[in-house]
Amino acid sequence: MEKNQKVALITGCSSGIGRVSARFLAQKGYRIYALSRTPEKLSDIASENLHPIKVDITDTDSIDAALEKIEHIDILVNNAGYGLVSTVEDMNETQMLRQFDVNVFGVLRMCKAVIPKMRKQEAGVIINISSFLGKIGLPLLTFYNASKYAVEGITDSLRYELRDFNIRVHSIMPGFFDTDFARDNLVVNPQTFEKNSPYSKLVATLAPVIIDQINHGNDAIEVSKLILKIIEDENFDARQTAGDKAKKFIPMKKELSDEDFERRVREYYNLG
Ligand SMILES: NC(=O)c1ccc[n+]([C@@H]2O[C@H](COP(=O)([O-])OP(=O)(O)OC[C@H]3O[C@@H](n4cnc5c(N)ncnc54)[C@H](OP(=O)(O)O)[C@@H]3O)[C@@H](O)[C@H]2O)c1
Repeated sequence: MEKNQKVALITGCSSGIGRVSARFLAQKGYRIYALSRTPEKLSDIASENLHPIKVDITDTDSIDAALEKIEHIDILVNNAGYGLVSTVEDMNETQMLRQFDVNVFGVLRMCKAVIPKMRKQEAGVIINISSFLGKIGLPLLTFYNASKYAVEGITDSLRYELRDFNIRVHSIMPGFFDTDFARDNLVVNPQTFEKNSPYSKLVATLAPVIIDQINHGNDAIEVSKLILKIIEDENFDARQTAGDKAKKFIPMKKELSDEDFERRVREYYNLG
């Protein structure tokens, strides 16, 4: 390892934003520990700067075992996450807890593991990959929305808590990005998608549109470039959007009243 080479940990690297960002930052000279439940999927991009490591962010022992071997950590990118598609009425206890275990508690477990090292170094950057749905609600995505709103809260609180130790905390709020998110990692509640569900009209109107918007979304490299900008700019804002939909809706959410904004979203998605 080169002297002064910056070390970054990225979670959820087997696909999408994590995979693209691991490769991009490694090419930029960072030493990347690419965390994944399936590190073998990263063997094709492993290099001197890119080291796949097996970690399950829902398991503290797995995180601790991986981090034991890494002495110095400059950057943590909390990227792993997935979306549960379900009405609240159809809520399944296991699915609900799992959504938070990965998207929220996974972020907190990773922060707990790296903060002592960053605190001793008196330097560090934590970047949480949240979502524009961490500021905007949508039907059928209540559990995902709640998890990403929580990530936004974690970012805000940690910024105060870690300031004295020179640890910066940021969030990136992507809009829709063409990754494996909708193809492989959406978890769908079968009851919500039943033909006779009282929500069938809503499901038929919204679900295909959202899935199509994700699959035709922006390129993940946009998020990777933003991650690099945040790392390199000590004065970067607390949070930043990425992608067309986030750039459209987040400023609109700030400008309009809650009711006017809701009206615009209902019109946009034909929600009646
Ligand atoms: N794509 C979008 O439109 C979009 C929009 C807004 C926000 N985001 C956020 O961006 C982040 C990256 O997503 P992506 O778009 O790159 O999607 P992706 O291609 O599905 O990648 C997500 C990664 O998260 C990990 N992951 C997925 N399901 C998991 C589960 N059940 N338990 C533990 N880990 C799991 C996986 O990593 P391993 O298999 O390597 O462990 C997976 O490679 C997520 O936090 C997502 O919420 C995505």
